[in-house]
Amino acid sequence: MKERLESMQTEALAELGRVAGPQELNELRVKYLGKKGQLTEILRGMGGLSAEERPVIGQVANEVRAAIEGVIEEKQSAFEKQETERRLAAETIDVSLPGRPAASGAAHPLNRVIREVEDIFIGMGFTVAEGPEVETDYHNFEALNLPKDHPARDMQDSFYITEEILLRTQTSPVQSRTMLSRGGVGPVKIISPGKVYRRDDDDATHSHQFMQIEGLVIDKGIKMSNLKGTLLQFVQEMFGSSRIRMRPSFFPFTEPSAEVDMSCYQCGGSGCRLCKQTGWIEILGSGMVHPRVLEMGGFDPKVYSGFAFGMGVERIAMLKHGVDDIRHFYTNDLRFLRQFARS
Ligand code: DAH
Repeated sequence: MKERLESMQTEALAELGRVAGPQELNELRVKYLGKKGQLTEILRGMGGLSAEERPVIGQVANEVRAAIEGVIEEKQSAFEKQETERRLAAETIDVSLPGRPAASGAAHPLNRVIREVEDIFIGMGFTVAEGPEVETDYHNFEALNLPKDHPARDMQDSFYITEEILLRTQTSPVQSRTMLSRGGVGPVKIISPGKVYRRDDDDATHSHQFMQIEGLVIDKGIKMSNLKGTLLQFVQEMFGSSRIRMRPSFFPFTEPSAEVDMSCYQCGGSGCRLCKQTGWIEILGSGMVHPRVLEMGGFDPKVYSGFAFGMGVERIAMLKHGVDDIRHFYTNDLRFLRQFARS
C-alpha cells in the first residue's frame, strides 16, 4: 500500500509538472485528492491493515496528500499571478498619449461684429441699450415722427401682429424708449444692437430678419460736427478707413438727414470692384434728431439737441469679411461659420 501511495505521488507530481492551465489543474486535484479520487481509493484498503501498519500508512498518506496539495497550490498561485499580469498588460493606459480636445463653440460672426462695434462706442463713452423685438406701432413709427398716414411707412413693409403691435422694422424705437426713460434730462449716449424684421423677399442682399445698431446722443449743444467726428472715429477703428462723407438724405426722425459713406478701405479711394469704382462705400444713415422726436421723447428741443444713426450689422460684417451673400449668416453652414472662429 505504501508503494501504491508513493507511485501515485510520483505520477501525480509528474502530471502536475506538465499542467498547462487552471482548469487542467483542477481536474488533477479531483483525480488525485477528490472524494472519488485515487488517494481516497487507495485509503479505502486501510481497513485490511493491522493496528501497527495503520498509523504508518496513515502518515505516508498524509505526506503524499501534503506533497500533492503543495504543488497544486504553487501552480495555482503561479496561474493567478500570470492572469493578473495578463490583465494588467491588457488594461495599460498610456498616460503620455495626447488627450482629445473638447470641441468648443465660437461666437457667431454677427455677434462678433456687434461686440466689436460696441467696444468702439463704449470707448467713446456710450452705453448699450436694448429694446423689445415685438414693438408697439407708437414706438416703432409714431414717436419717430411717422404718423399713421405717413408715406415713409411704405419704405418698410412690416409684420403686424395686431393693429398696434408689430415686429420692429428698425432699432430706432429704442431711441424713443430711452428718451422716455430719462425724463427729459440729458445727456443720452447709447447704442442699441438688435434684430429687426421686414416683409422682404430673401436674396443675396435682403433678409426678412436682420440686425441693426442704433446710436443716439442727446445733450446741450450737440451739433452735426459731433455726429461727423463720432462716425469718423468709428469708421477708422472698425475699417481703418481714413475719411467719411455725408450726403443729404431723408429720414422722418432726423432733420437734416445724411447717408454716410466711408472712403474705400481696399483701394483707398482710387476705385476698385468693392466700391464699384466710386472710391466710396455707403455704410449708414444718420442725422440730427428731429425736434418733434425730441419733444415726443420728453426732451425740450430749445434746450437739447442730438444726433442719431443706424447701420445694418450684416452689411458691416459683409464689408469687413468679404461675404457676398447675406443668407450665409442665417443658414448656419459650419464651413462658413468656422472661418470666423478664433480660439
Ligand atoms: N432706421 C433707419 C433704417 O432702418 C436707419 C437710421 C437712419 C437710423 C437714420 C437712424 C438715423 O437713427 O438717424 O433705415
